[in-house]
Amino acid sequence: MNNFIYDIPVRVYFGKGQIEHLGEELKKYGERVLLVYGGGSIKKNGLYGAVASEIKDAGLELSELSGVDPNPKIHSIREGQKLCKEKKIDMVLAVGGGSVIDCAKVVAAAACVDFDPWDFLGKGVPIEKALPVISVLTIAATGSEMDNCAVISNPDTEDKIAISSSHMVPRASFLDPTYTYTVNRYQTACGAADILSHVFEIYFAKERSLYMVECFMEGLMKTVIRYAPVALREPDNYEARANLMWASSWAINGFIEYGKNVTWICHPLEHELSALYDITHGLGLAILTPRWMEYCLDETTAERFRQFGVNVLGIEKDLAPMEAAKKSIEMLSDFLFHTLGLSRTLTEIGIDDRNIKAMAEKICSGRTLPMESLKPLMQEDIEAIYRMCL
Ligand code: NZQ
Ligand code: ZN
Repeated sequence: MNNFIYDIPVRVYFGKGQIEHLGEELKKYGERVLLVYGGGSIKKNGLYGAVASEIKDAGLELSELSGVDPNPKIHSIREGQKLCKEKKIDMVLAVGGGSVIDCAKVVAAAACVDFDPWDFLGKGVPIEKALPVISVLTIAATGSEMDNCAVISNPDTEDKIAISSSHMVPRASFLDPTYTYTVNRYQTACGAADILSHVFEIYFAKERSLYMVECFMEGLMKTVIRYAPVALREPDNYEARANLMWASSWAINGFIEYGKNVTWICHPLEHELSALYDITHGLGLAILTPRWMEYCLDETTAERFRQFGVNVLGIEKDLAPMEAAKKSIEMLSDFLFHTLGLSRTLTEIGIDDRNIKAMAEKICSGRTLPMESLKPLMQEDIEAIYRMCL
């Protein structure tokens, strides 16, 4: 295990009514706010009004970038960059899910440069500066509210690219679980699958974590498995929404990854799917994950799945490792496709095999192969995993 520096500098206002601190928080960063939001859910559920009055009462000037798509597109970033310059914006306030927060993060960086913001993603130009970002989270899923990452799509090049920079980490995030009461069944399920996947990528990586961190990850997974079904049955169950929301932040804020070399697998595979087909991120992950696990299962990896099964899913301790591993993957599939009700195959969502080779090629280009996860993966392995999803 490597040395690490713990540094998660996000001020989190967690719980009902914490929005009353939004004005005082924003005032720390200047006078002119760019409010970024999506397709209108915050107008329907009243959150827009609460945010706008906090801004007004704090005496701040409000500009808006609305209509950010799920799987946010580069044109929104370009529009945001222009607005920031024209209105001399001091800070960017994201009110929404991962798509809105990711868009706000890259707009905040784009505001500080004079080149096209796709250069950060397509050319890998490093982000050296960004306006302060503040978020009000409305869906438990990506953890963007507490991490340094953003994922942006470019429909012209059919790319969906992730970037990270400490400058994009939100200065403050408002996590009020009641704002997620209006998230529909499908998005709640996709969010749960995404949180689980963030933990899987690290829990199942080749290198083991500290025992303390493995127990923490098992706690996060148990939380999602316990509370996602409750949130589906009772969308306004505070305990369920609060547990999912806090789990979403801790699954990807860096804590569980510290000190460990990890190659993420299902995420790059999913990002190619959503780049080409614009599918929901959590759905793509749900379809890919059990197939990736099945593909990696052998005598050398069975014990890892057995541990997951016993400690997270509560399967019998005395089963042989291979039997226990198979049972764990079956139980996970049942959770994703039956309990959460997500589609089981790519075929079901209208995706066939025609782009599999190109997607695998894109994932492998520019990377050191094999990709070292549970099992080393070459391009043909990635193609095989996609095929298992059909
Ligand atoms: O657009 P609005 O009207 O806000 O509606 C959204 C959208 O249609 C809706 N929604 C959100 N909160 C709601 C709500 N509807 C009713 N009530 C509410 N309270 O849900 C839909 C999906 O929203 P979106 O923001 O796209 O969801 P999510 O948070 O899952 O974000 C997905 C994006 O984040 C990226 C994904 O790839 C994808 O582009 N990721 C970002 C990561 C990061 N920054 O660290 C890591 C992740 O692995 C992921 O890749
Ligand atoms: Zn994810």
